[in-house]
Amino acid sequence: MSIISDDNSFKQAQKTETKNPVIKAESFESDKNFENSIRPKSFDTYIGQSALKETLKITIAAAKKRELPLDHLLFYGPPGLGKTTLAGVIAEQMNVPIKITSAPALERPRDIIGILMSLKGGEILFIDEIHRLNKVAEEILYPAMEDFYLDMTTGKSQTVKTLRVPLPKFTLIGATTKAGELSGPLRDRFGIVHRLEFYTDEELAKVITRTAGILDIEITEEGALAIARRSRGTPRIANRLVKRVSDFALVKHDGKITESVANESLDILKIDNYGLDNTDRNLLKLIIEKYNGGPVGIETIAAAIGEDVRTIEDVCEPFLLQAGLIQRTPRGRKVSPACYSHLGYRNIDINEQKSLF
Ligand code: ADE
Repeated sequence: MSIISDDNSFKQAQKTETKNPVIKAESFESDKNFENSIRPKSFDTYIGQSALKETLKITIAAAKKRELPLDHLLFYGPPGLGKTTLAGVIAEQMNVPIKITSAPALERPRDIIGILMSLKGGEILFIDEIHRLNKVAEEILYPAMEDFYLDMTTGKSQTVKTLRVPLPKFTLIGATTKAGELSGPLRDRFGIVHRLEFYTDEELAKVITRTAGILDIEITEEGALAIARRSRGTPRIANRLVKRVSDFALVKHDGKITESVANESLDILKIDNYGLDNTDRNLLKLIIEKYNGGPVGIETIAAAIGEDVRTIEDVCEPFLLQAGLIQRTPRGRKVSPACYSHLGYRNIDINEQKSLF
């Protein structure tokens, strides 16, 4: 599997990592080796997303029978749910190589042209954050996806000539946290579009037990479930937490992760029993205490808590929405009644309530 790294994401990672080293679902460059070492390679070892797995198995079997590459696929959903992992499993099952890149690394026309021209027949090209592809790159991609050729121009103004360069048949797998931001023409060129769902606690406990096995970490069933409950439905977070809890178990106990060791360690890491961290709680408390529960605009929230809008929208919000702690309204974000009680507020009226923290 070849990895094409993305300088921008590294800088972004460095910036954010110091703030939130453990529990956010963004993909950091420093975690890539760890993630690659535990990535499942087959549908049998890939846990969760069972409906999607079943459809993909049929699609793959049909493509193999026809001896044709797979249709282009688009995966969307919150970060950390296994979009890249799934692309790797598909490549493995199709028995083809995969090139992995992300849209911010394809800024100049020559970036996308270079990668397209390097593809071999049947190869998979995985583009992460595909909603961030610029217009020029998109225009280059259209004929490549549709009819497998590149339109190149040579010469200047009057003498300009268009050259049609054929490409081998390849499969594009696009991944995005924001399907709505994909342009219509690009979205329409994907034959298969799938949404990845948050994982159940039981599925995450299996992911955790599997990872612990690979890392030689001793863990009980209850210990795995305790970590799972605070992993925000996200395997990437679960896998990071296993490592942190394992450090704690080793230093403070005998190395084994039991339910009480997991809970003690996660309490110290300030991850509550919804899996929320300080950033999430600050965001929710801000809406409650300064804006009477909302609605309040996302830019105002971002400025007040010192996070960027993209991080809030892509990383914090999907789970807060799924957990029913906030709601999106046309006038901004609003917290739900469940949020007040989770954070220990006595009632919904800010004028009377007191935070119990
Ligand atoms: N690690 C990350 N995602 C996983 C998954 N879906 N199954 C098993 N291990 C994983």
